Parts: sequence; C-alpha cells; structure tokens
Amino acid sequence: MELREGNGEGIDSWKEVTLIYKAALKMITTKMEILNDEFQHVHRYNPIEHIKARIKTPESIVKKLKRDGHESTIDNMIKYINDIAGIRVICSFTSDIYRIADMISEQRDIRVIAVKDYITFPKSSGYKSYHMIVTVPVYLSDRTVDTKVEIQIRTVAMDFWASLEHKIHYKFEGDAPEHIRNELVECAKMVSDLDARMLKLNEELIAIANERML
Ligand code: GTP
Ligand code: MG
Repeated sequence: MELREGNGEGIDSWKEVTLIYKAALKMITTKMEILNDEFQHVHRYNPIEHIKARIKTPESIVKKLKRDGHESTIDNMIKYINDIAGIRVICSFTSDIYRIADMISEQRDIRVIAVKDYITFPKSSGYKSYHMIVTVPVYLSDRTVDTKVEIQIRTVAMDFWASLEHKIHYKFEGDAPEHIRNELVECAKMVSDLDARMLKLNEELIAIANERML
C-alpha cells in the first residue's frame, strides 16, 4: 500500500477512511433491505434478489489513481475514486431496477451525484446495468461526513452476463479475440430478450392474480 496521507476534510488516516466507507456501505445496504422488506409487506414480492457490497482494495485504488494520472494520496482517492464503496443490487425484473433507483434517490439524506443508465444505453460490449453515484451522511462522534457510494443495479440475467464478460476481459487483458467479443454481444441480446420476456410473463401473472381477487 503506497497511499500517502493527506488531510482531506480532516480525514488523515487510511484506517479512518475505510471505517467511514464501510459505514456508508452498511447504511446503503440497510436502506436497500428496508425497501425490500417493505415491498414484500405491501406488494407481496421481493424486488431484490440479493445484494453484494465491497470495499475497493488499496491495490486497485492505487492502480486507478495511476491510470487517471493522479498521485496516490488519501485526498486524491477521496476526490477522484467514486467506487471505493460499491454495492451491487440484483433484481428479478428490469422494472424493479428503476423502482429501486427512484426510491433510493427520493430519500432525504441521499444525494445523487451521477447516474449512468447502461440499460437504456448499453455499452458497445453489450454491458447493461444502472449505475448511480450517491453520497450518504456518515455520523461520527464529532462530525458528519458525506460519503460516496457507487450503486450498480441490474437483473439476475445482466449479472450473469457481466460476470462472464468480466472474467473474459481479465483473461485477455481487455483484448479478447473478435469472435469471443461478437459472441458476447450476441449473448447480451439474448439477455435483453430473456429479461423482456420474463417481465411480460410476470406482468401477465400479476394481471391474472388481480382478476381472481376481484
Ligand atoms: P471506472 O471504469 O471504474 O473508472 O468507472 P467509469 O467512470 O468509467 O464508470 P463505468 O460506469 O464505466 O464503470 C463502473 C463499473 O461498472 C466498473 O468498475 C465495472 O464494475 C462495471 N462495468 C462497466 N463497464 C463494464 C463492462 O463492459 N463489463 C463489465 N463486466 N462490467 C462493467
Ligand atoms: Mg469504466
């Protein structure tokens, strides 16, 4: 670990910084779990399949700072790295993604810094996911620190695709053979098609259930 210390808003040690990012992750995870529980209570279904949370390793923080031409200091890490705290929310259906994103954005203590909708506008690789950078206040004994968290929201199918694509990307160091890249784009189309069909099926199911209740 070669991160040098600075005095970013009084945060002057790596340990303290990770403690704050971990707290922010806990807060966002809890918020998501509460939304899921409430949804189960009101609508009798869970929009969230599961949640993964992680703190970026010091090695990849240093690597990213270097990539972007920044010195490895704690100040730069706080300023430039948006995904030190990262949470991935896996949903059943595409409609759940927007529902969750809206619900989280509307919370009073959450500030949305940036949104990237790779579902409406997929990457050329075929990657689909909804990304948000938010800040959440972390209350310490003597101050409050608004802390950045990257939220990635995607369906189970999108997540399946992204994990394999990620493995392939690493294996070939970002330079996969053309036929593999093409095949991945094809698979991404199948993922979108599957998501759309599953969503439609689920909507039919809900409509039938509602009719029977009338
Ligand atoms: P960095 O590349 O992390 O600096 O962020 P960025 O500002 O370019 O944001 P972007 O939304 O492109 O990527 C953020 C994160 O999304 C990445 O760290 C990955 O976890 C994920 N991601 C983005 N693009 C892809 C992709 O093509 N394939 C996979 N598997 N994951 C991706
Ligand atoms: Mg990127």
